[in-house]
Amino acid sequence: MTSVAETQASLEAVLKDEIIRMYQEVADKPQGTFHFFHGREAAELFDYESDWLDRAPDGAVASFAGVGNPHLRSRLKPGETVLDLGSGAGLDAIIASWMVGPNGRVLGVDLNPAMCLKAQAHAAATGTRMECREGRMEDIPVPNGSVDVVISNGVINLSFRKRRVLEEIFRVLRTGGRISITDIVSAKQLSQSIVNDPKLWAS
Ligand SMILES: C[S@@+](CC[C@H](N)C(=O)[O-])C[C@H]1O[C@@H](n2cnc3c(N)ncnc32)[C@H](O)[C@@H]1O
Repeated sequence: MTSVAETQASLEAVLKDEIIRMYQEVADKPQGTFHFFHGREAAELFDYESDWLDRAPDGAVASFAGVGNPHLRSRLKPGETVLDLGSGAGLDAIIASWMVGPNGRVLGVDLNPAMCLKAQAHAAATGTRMECREGRMEDIPVPNGSVDVVISNGVINLSFRKRRVLEEIFRVLRTGGRISITDIVSAKQLSQSIVNDPKLWAS
């Protein structure tokens, strides 16, 4: 008989493949049709400053796939260490790197190593720096108490283990650290046909 843990592990593996496929497609073919907002249109909708969007590399803007604007409340200061969970093509991490300046540090974490390389290349193209580590937000590859601020944009809803993600965020934050997350919550229980559809879950 299959245990609950085994069932969850196999569902997570299916979801991981779908997430990698979906966001890789946004990064490789941003002009395609997706059933979620993305690109410059989405960033403008979420009040990203035009200056940021003009200054960031076209690829990072075109592949932006967030659900809000974590920079509105992050209050990042020069010299701070920021962690961007699910850094994607890098737009949010690049904006954070401008805010923390040359004495600050931006770490990204992404499931997909190809997205990490893309985000780092986009950051380098603007003359700034972010380090992206391949990994999962459920096991953040960052030491305890080493981060001033965690930002994330539309990623935690993708996890099967949201409580675990929050525990990990609190583990890596230093005492007095901050969180600025934009994400999706549902006020009502989703139907089983939605919950069981990896394509809908992944987007
Ligand atoms: C919604 S995008 C993030 C947008 C990004 N902040 C930007 O500036 O465009 C989602 C990213 O989260 C990553 N991701 C999804 N699930 C993840 C997980 N469990 N751990 C780490 N990264 C994850 C995906 O690979 C994808 O690159």
